[in-house]
Amino acid sequence: MEQLLVALDVDTAAEARALAAQLGGAVGGFKIGSRLFTSAGPALVEELASRDRVFLDLKFHDIPNTVAGAVAAATRLGVWMLNVHASGGLAMMRAARAAAVEEAARRSRPAPLVIAVTMLTSLDQQALMEIGLQASVADQVGRLAALTESAGLDGVVASPQEIEIIRRRCGQGFAIVTPGIRGAADEHGDQSRTATAADALAAGATYLVVGRPIIAAADPRAAAEKMVAECRVGRAGQAGRARQAGRKRRSS
Ligand code: C5P
Repeated sequence: MEQLLVALDVDTAAEARALAAQLGGAVGGFKIGSRLFTSAGPALVEELASRDRVFLDLKFHDIPNTVAGAVAAATRLGVWMLNVHASGGLAMMRAARAAAVEEAARRSRPAPLVIAVTMLTSLDQQALMEIGLQASVADQVGRLAALTESAGLDGVVASPQEIEIIRRRCGQGFAIVTPGIRGAADEHGDQSRTATAADALAAGATYLVVGRPIIAAADPRAAAEKMVAECRVGRAGQAGRARQAGRKRRSS
């Protein structure tokens, strides 16, 4: 399923390669975050990006010039998507976008999608207060998503609970990448705002990022296939409900 991105949150290139080989064809791409990048480095990113879509999740957050340099470097590795923190501000996000477009043009390749993290999905209202933000989670996410869109970025990372707010404030073409996905029976662990894959897609997520529910499963491919199947059932149910609602509207 094109929309399912698997977080390769492991420590070695060997583990990452094994997961990528096991999951190949069943998922839409792989996310490489700070854990794997710090231990295995850019060579692994380039290697995986030559075969699959790679979302480089390093959440750049620095002065515009530094972020632009990092984005250009990621673009040279051939990544399909990368991200920055929206709280880095408008100038930083614009610099990130420009660097991606310019570096890709120099290499005659498509520019990577550049998206922004609104708020980490591990943060709740209490955590927001602790860092001195008085806004509600919903207001803060909505504000940062609108800022991201005005900087010309392609979308945001946001929890399932914020998809609706973002869809209301930003255009339909704006990508929403949603982590915090759990099976109905799973523990939430350190993720505060979670949903099932089917519910997140029904709410309007463009891509899902799933880590532990797949990579920590006894059989990662079977876990990914089960999630894809649940999304198909969810979609069929949704289409059925929409048809029923349409019939009711026509007969009333
Ligand atoms: O294991 P789990 O499914 O919770 O993994 C979610 C992944 O998404 C992790 O790699 C985490 O770093 C990432 N992520 C997140 N919240 C964000 C941005 C990225 O959980 N706002």
